[in-house]
Formats: sequence, structure tokens, C-alpha cells
Amino acid sequence: MPDGNEPIKVLLIEDDEDDSVLIRSILSDIPSASYDITWAETYKDALRGLREGSYDVCLMDYRLGNRTGLELLQKVADYADKPPIIILTGQGDYRVDIAAMKHGAADYLVKDHLSDPMLERTIRYAIERKKSEDALRESEKQLQYLSSQLLVVQENERRKVAAELHDNLGQLLTAIKYNIETVISRQPCENECASNLEQVIPLIQVAVEHVRRIYTQLRPTVLDDLGVKAALTWYCREFEDVNTRILVNKDFEIEEEEIPENLKLAMFRIVQDAMDNVAEHSSAEQVWLRLSSHNGALNLSIRDDGKGFNVGAKLSLMNPEGGLGLRSMKRRAELSGGNLAIISEVGTGTTVRANWPS
Ligand SMILES: Nc1ncnc2c1ncn2[C@@H]1O[C@H](COP(=O)(O)OP(=O)(O)OP(=O)(O)O)[C@@H](O)[C@H]1O
Ligand SMILES: [Mg+2]
Repeated sequence: MPDGNEPIKVLLIEDDEDDSVLIRSILSDIPSASYDITWAETYKDALRGLREGSYDVCLMDYRLGNRTGLELLQKVADYADKPPIIILTGQGDYRVDIAAMKHGAADYLVKDHLSDPMLERTIRYAIERKKSEDALRESEKQLQYLSSQLLVVQENERRKVAAELHDNLGQLLTAIKYNIETVISRQPCENECASNLEQVIPLIQVAVEHVRRIYTQLRPTVLDDLGVKAALTWYCREFEDVNTRILVNKDFEIEEEEIPENLKLAMFRIVQDAMDNVAEHSSAEQVWLRLSSHNGALNLSIRDDGKGFNVGAKLSLMNPEGGLGLRSMKRRAELSGGNLAIISEVGTGTTVRANWPS
């Protein structure tokens, strides 16, 4: 990219020598910038220039011998670091203009109407737009990387907290309960202190149960030990215990062996996030969890008959109240090689559908 007084590197793709001279002369008349022009006369030279060269902008004639600039645009569509391409044509043609835009041209100019201010401005705008697009692509890449890292960090933290709760707090509570039971067994029954202690035992039992529930939700060992179907069955039972008004319909039309190991955690977390949402936001009476396969592709869906919501608005980055659940579901599916759609209609309910191609 030119900086200050550096000349702008132009690849001029033009099969007509007279036109090439004309365009060079227009460019040399521009007082506010200087241009370092490389002329590519044939389709082949043009391809090589776009593939190997490092230009700030490309001016491309629409007619290239028996080929067209549109063909060339299509051919170079996936070249990584190509310059913005401005199509030049002999006669204005609205259809060519539209087609050029569709194929990724930065702009379209009619040669007969070219003037130096117009060409200067078009080149400058095309270069600036490319700069902004590159910056946007870079920040999108960064965002994707950060969001995938966020999921990894979240998973590690969950594992750590679950181990901490299981190994320390859970065992501590069990030890307290055991010690109190020992003290009680050594006291005569009518002792008031012993009877007070007896009342503490069920409370500790409830605390143990709470801790167990929290660490299992954080990292269900059943997932590692018995697989995703067993983990989801366990999760649905827990879900119904806590959300007594919501009926869970479970339908697993798939064998555990059909599910690749690397998808299991993603599947479980997607169900967890989706069903958390059903419990928290939907006011649904029923939820349907379905796991199936078709021609080697795996499908997972979580559907509720709740109040539904406007998905676009909730997923918009402009939404200041946006939670993490919907976004991490999508990201988890994508990172594990699948895709995820959220279909919701106000008043009808919501379906979260993930799919992993074979
Ligand atoms: N099944 C659903 N039914 C109705 N509304 C839903 C449903 N799922 C999501 N929503 C709406 O979409 C919003 C965003 O959901 P998301 O899971 O991303 O965030 P959250 O649940 O608010 O917070 P978090 O998941 O981070 O704890 C919710 O606040 C809710 O308004
Ligand atoms: Mg949520």
C-alpha cells in the first residue's frame, strides 16, 4: 500500500496498445499522485501479474482478445492478496457493470468518459476500500480466534472448579458428616446435644447433594465414562427434577459408536446451553431433544413450544444485553466441523438444530 509520496503500483491489463498509451497519459496528467505502471498485454500476463505481483490497484480492460475481463475476474476470485480491480470498457453497458460488481470488481469505468480527476478519485477510493476490507477481515479473524480460545478457557476453568468442588468441598462435607455421626453414636440418645447434632446431618446431606450437582453440571464424568447418550439422559433427568413444569421428550435414534469422540463434549454443551435457555426464557411446557444420523451426517435438535424470540436481534453485536449461550452454541458447532441454526418464531417456540456432515 503506498505511503505518502510513494508511487501507486498499477497493473494495467489492456490488449490494445493505443488504449494503454491513452490510459498511461491520463495517469501521468494527474498532479496529486504518481503511478508506477506495469502493462499486461495478454490474458496470460494478466493472470501472472495478479497471482505473483504486488500491486496497489489493477485497471482491467473488459475486452481481452477473445476473452473478457469478467472471465479473468472469475478466475482470480480466490487469489489471496490481489489488488482491487477496476474494469474499463469501451462502451457503457449496465449488464456488464452489474456482472463486474457481482464478480468482485471494485469499480467500473467507461473509457470514453475518462478524465484524470475521475480516474484519480476512483483509484484512491478503491485502494482505501480495500484497506478497510483487509482491516475488517483481520479483526474478524482475531474475533474468531478469541471466541474459540474463550471456549477452551471456559472448559478448562469448568474442569478445574469441578475437580476442586469434588476433591475438596465434597469430601470435606462427607468427612464432617462422618465425624458428627461418630460423635452421635458415642453419646447416649437422650443427650440434647446429640439430638441437635442429628438435625445437622440432613442439612449436610443436602449440601453434599448441591455440591455434587454443581460439579457434575460443570464437568459430567458420565460423558467420559459412558458417552454422550448416557450423559444426556442423566442431564434430562436432572433438568426435569429442577424444572418440574417442563416435560422432556427424548429421542435418540443413533448408536453411541456412530458419534465421533471429538463431537461429544460439543454436543453435550450445546444441549446444556439450549436447555438452560428453555428453562430460563421460554415458558415452554415441553421440550424435544433429538439425536439422529442420516447418511453419516449427525443431527442434534432441541425444540421447545415456548414463547419464541427474535433471533437476529438477540444475536446482533449491537445488542448490549446479548448473552453468551447462543453464540457459544454456534461457535462450538463450527469449531467441531458442523453448523448450527436457531429457528424461532414469537408465539410458536424455538428450535436449535446442529448438523455435522459425514
Ligand atoms: N428457547 C428460548 N425461548 C425464548 N427466548 C430465548 C430462548 N433461547 C434464547 N432466548 C432469548 O435469547 C437471549 C440470548 O440467549 P443467550 O443464551 O445467548 O443468553 P442468556 O441466556 O441471556 O445468557 P447466558 O446464556 O450467557 O447465561 C435470551 O436472553 C432470551 O431472551
Ligand atoms: Mg443462555
